[in-house]
Amino acid sequence: MEVKTSLLDNMIGVGDMVLLEPLSEDSFLENLRNRFDHNEIYTYIGSVVISMNPYRSLPIYTPDKVEEYRNRNFYELSPHIYALADEAYRSLRDQDKDQCILITGESGAGKTEASKLVMSYVAAVCGKGQEVNKVKEQLLQSNPVLEAFGNAKTVRNDNSSRFGKYMDIEFDFKGDPLGGVISNYLLEKSRVVKQPRGERNFHVFYQLLSGASDDTLKKLKLNRDLSKYNYLSLDSAAVNGLDDAANFRTVRNAMQIVGFMEDEVQSVLELVAAVLKLGNIEFKPESRCNGTDESRIKDKNDLKEMCELLGIEQSVLERAFSYRTVEAKLEKVSTTLNVAQAYYARDALAKNLYSRLFSWLVTRINESIKAQTKSRHKVMGVLDIYGFEIFEDNSFEQFIINYCNEKLQQIFIELTLREEQEEYVREGIEWTNIEYFNNAIICDLIENHQNGILAMLDEECLRPGTVTDETFLDKLNTICAEHQHFESRLSKNSKFLTDHSLPHNCFRIQHYAGKVLYRVEGFVDKNNDLLYRDLSQAMYKATHSLIKQLFPEGNPGKVNLKRPPTAGFQFKASVGTLMRNLQTKNPNYIRCIKPNDKKASHIFTESLVRHQARYLGLMENVRVRRAGYAFRQTYEPCLERYKMLCKRTWPHWRGPAREGVEVLMADLQVPADEFSYGRSKIFIRNPRTLFFLEERRRQCLQDLASLIQKIYRGWKCRSQFLLLKKSQIVVAAWYRRYAQQKKYQKIKSATTVVQSYTRGWQARKLLRELKYQKRCEEAVTTIAAFWHGTQARRELRRLKEEARRKHAVAVIWAYWQGLKVRREYRKFFRANAGKKIYEFTIQRIMQKYFLGLKSTMPSMSPIDKNWPARPYIFLDGVHTALRRIFHLWRCKKYRSQFTEEKKAVYEEKLEASEIFKDKKALYPSSVSQPFKGDYLEISKNPKYQKLNSAVDEKVLLADVVNKINRANGKGTARIFLLTKKSFVLADQKTGQVKASVPLPDLTSVSVSTQSDGFFALRLKEGSASAIKGDFLLSSEHLIEIITKIHRIGATAADREQLNIDISDEFLVQFKQDKVCVKFIEGAPKNGNSVSCKRKNNRLLEVSVPTSP
Ligand SMILES: Nc1ncnc2c1ncn2[C@@H]1O[C@H](COP(=O)(O)OP(=O)(O)OP(=O)(O)O)[C@@H](O)[C@H]1O
Ligand SMILES: [Mg+2]
Repeated sequence: MEVKTSLLDNMIGVGDMVLLEPLSEDSFLENLRNRFDHNEIYTYIGSVVISMNPYRSLPIYTPDKVEEYRNRNFYELSPHIYALADEAYRSLRDQDKDQCILITGESGAGKTEASKLVMSYVAAVCGKGQEVNKVKEQLLQSNPVLEAFGNAKTVRNDNSSRFGKYMDIEFDFKGDPLGGVISNYLLEKSRVVKQPRGERNFHVFYQLLSGASDDTLKKLKLNRDLSKYNYLSLDSAAVNGLDDAANFRTVRNAMQIVGFMEDEVQSVLELVAAVLKLGNIEFKPESRCNGTDESRIKDKNDLKEMCELLGIEQSVLERAFSYRTVEAKLEKVSTTLNVAQAYYARDALAKNLYSRLFSWLVTRINESIKAQTKSRHKVMGVLDIYGFEIFEDNSFEQFIINYCNEKLQQIFIELTLREEQEEYVREGIEWTNIEYFNNAIICDLIENHQNGILAMLDEECLRPGTVTDETFLDKLNTICAEHQHFESRLSKNSKFLTDHSLPHNCFRIQHYAGKVLYRVEGFVDKNNDLLYRDLSQAMYKATHSLIKQLFPEGNPGKVNLKRPPTAGFQFKASVGTLMRNLQTKNPNYIRCIKPNDKKASHIFTESLVRHQARYLGLMENVRVRRAGYAFRQTYEPCLERYKMLCKRTWPHWRGPAREGVEVLMADLQVPADEFSYGRSKIFIRNPRTLFFLEERRRQCLQDLASLIQKIYRGWKCRSQFLLLKKSQIVVAAWYRRYAQQKKYQKIKSATTVVQSYTRGWQARKLLRELKYQKRCEEAVTTIAAFWHGTQARRELRRLKEEARRKHAVAVIWAYWQGLKVRREYRKFFRANAGKKIYEFTIQRIMQKYFLGLKSTMPSMSPIDKNWPARPYIFLDGVHTALRRIFHLWRCKKYRSQFTEEKKAVYEEKLEASEIFKDKKALYPSSVSQPFKGDYLEISKNPKYQKLNSAVDEKVLLADVVNKINRANGKGTARIFLLTKKSFVLADQKTGQVKASVPLPDLTSVSVSTQSDGFFALRLKEGSASAIKGDFLLSSEHLIEIITKIHRIGATAADREQLNIDISDEFLVQFKQDKVCVKFIEGAPKNGNSVSCKRKNNRLLEVSVPTSP
């Protein structure tokens, strides 16, 4: 990259007009055009920057450019707005001087863009950090918000600022931004209700309608169609290169960054929507009987929706649009409004609402961006105020705007031209005066307290009686007639009587920037800026908190009958404050120039530029610069800054500062015509000289820095060396100690080794001796032991021999004695021994018998027939008795396990055995059959339920039996029931009782001896049951039936014992006849079953098969 070191490098035309040769207006314009054609839009006049609007984006605002201009001297690089911003920022940061950047120029010249460039440059070069970045971001993002609400498309500028803005950016001592304060000046509120042809209302209305979501619009009760709103001009609704929808998103985002709460944003949008709705309210006339005209709202829908949005009662607002209440001290008078007045009231409300909303926005932004710390701040003010305006139709607003521009021009003149010249005179510098136009006279025409136009307007507004715009003009015509810059057709100045370019209802002022014709219509109204009290009170009654806040005067508790200050008065006061503020700061000028009226790039309309250059006084500016000195500074700071350039002044100069500077300049051999000594300041003619000084200073500073560095490095190295040396001694001491310690430990361990070897050798020697001694002792002991052993064994052998001999003697003696005794007692032995041997033998046999019996015992079952065989005949009796005893014992054991029921069954069985055993052949087969009793399960079987209930007693036996028919000997099946008291015969199928016989009526039972089941139940003669005769029955369970009947008879005390007759022939009484039943053993004809046949009237023959 090419590195520039001077403004003069690769210059197109001249970068600084001061260097222009020859200097004339033409060459001035030619230079501007030349540079403009080469995209050089910035040119200097000394430290003032002229900026030409390129009307297209140039690649000169990149981050690289920012870096290029950062910390560089003003004249070092080609002219740029960044150079000015850098200069201002550095003198603020390094020299602690508050700065202000004054951007002037007419509408569309690029003031707002320039102010944004300055702010973005400062933001880029100042400190960084999370907090600082947030502050920067908030400061930068306040612009889109204010532009949306305060800018509009005009014929001159698609993004024209319709308010004045002055922003103070506050920095701390390091140059980091802390926050800011924005002041706003007079919003052009008339635009809200009416826009000139080809112009638009404020951007925010279009942005909201095209950018908001359907949902938001629905909430705000708005329609996307612009044509639905009376306050929006339609012929220029779409602006080339302006994306309202995208801008709406940018604005919402910016509001969020600045710190607006979501509900605040919503409230703001509701107010914007309310203004649109307000414009749609229309009135119609209605005549009253007293002849006056009254107004009525045509369609109340918009009014209703607006009231809903703002939370106002519809009737209250409706009344405020129909009546006007005038309060005077103690009186209140209500008058009706006609249609025109109603429209006036509506528009006044819309304008007030919007302008107050705008002021609220500025206050709210200020709240967010205000510096948090209370420490002293350095301030950089950026002024971007509406440019000078000349429209076809100029009204009060243009008058005010142009007045403000006059004031700014004044301050420019004050500070650059007059101040500069006056300073030369004051400082006693030789100087030829330069003529320039001082617009103080115009300012005076407007703002003079007694007869200034604003004062007269105020006077007219406050005057009792009929006041109109015309009376105001009349007043001007009388008072300002003689003023050189005031022109009016009806003034006493006859000069204009025939001037047809001057209509009757207008006056013209020759501003510094040109003549402007003002139409007086609306001046009085706009200056009064009156809002009917009824309306402000209606607004105060709203439940919408923001709207209530905007109309505090509507509070009925604080009715102020004093007139509020007029718009003109307020504006004059705020401009006055601004001017005073600017005068305390170091000014930096950016003078914006508009190259053409078409908003087009590459077009340079010379006449237009010439006009601007003239009224901006640029030529005078160059002249003063050229004649004067580029730089001045009081002696003290100058000496302080450059004293290092001369040995005599460095490091201290003891004498007066001026002399020090003189010595310095002489020493530096600066040519005498390059500077002059003033009374308190030195004046340097050329920037080059200053650069030379600065360069020398920079080099010197470098040398000084090197010197400081050198000394510092020397000091640092020396102290490091000393430290090293000290450390080395310590390290060496420690090392020596360590080495000695090591050596000592080595010797010590060697000694220990030698010592241990010696001791080991001695010990081993001793051990050897001791071992030898021990071996000797052991050998002696062994030899002694062997010797004693031999001796002992020899003695033992001798003793053993001796004992053997003694034993043999004793045995021989014993045998001898025995022989002697046996010979003597043989005759007594046989008489006693036989019996004893016998008893012993018997005892042994019995013992063996019992032990054997124990192991061969049979099982515990009573039916087990096994019993061990008898071993000896003589034990026969005992053996049999033992068998019986054992059998009885195990039967007892067996019985002891019986339950009561089982016991009863066995008792029955026992009884059966007593009755039938060995008497009837059927008996053995019945032994194994259990006596079940109830074979029919009579109580459970539902079939026999009736039968069961017919019998009172508990049924002991229930079975099916055959009743033998006497006529043919055939059997019929009958149910046989036995209870304790009776037996019953019933039909097997129906369960019907055929016969019920009480047991006392039964005398005997007859059965055969054979294996048949026939039995005859014989009844007591003469008893009731005996009428039908005896029963001859047959049953498989004969034994059980007879046993049970017998048992009942045995247990009943009141009855005789039942007879059981067992014989193969017995008589049965059937009614009157007695029939003999005879049993014959032998094979019956029909196989194996029993058959019964009637032989004759008195004989029934029963054939029973032979029992096996
Ligand atoms: N440096 C620039 N580079 C590119 N375009 C520019 C530059 N300066 C101005 N413009 C263009 O000119 C237009 C008008 O500029 P700007 O809004 O800054 O004018 P202004 O002086 O503030 O006017 P007003 O007094 O009406 O507010 C901008 O919208 C932009 O398109
Ligand atoms: Mg602007």
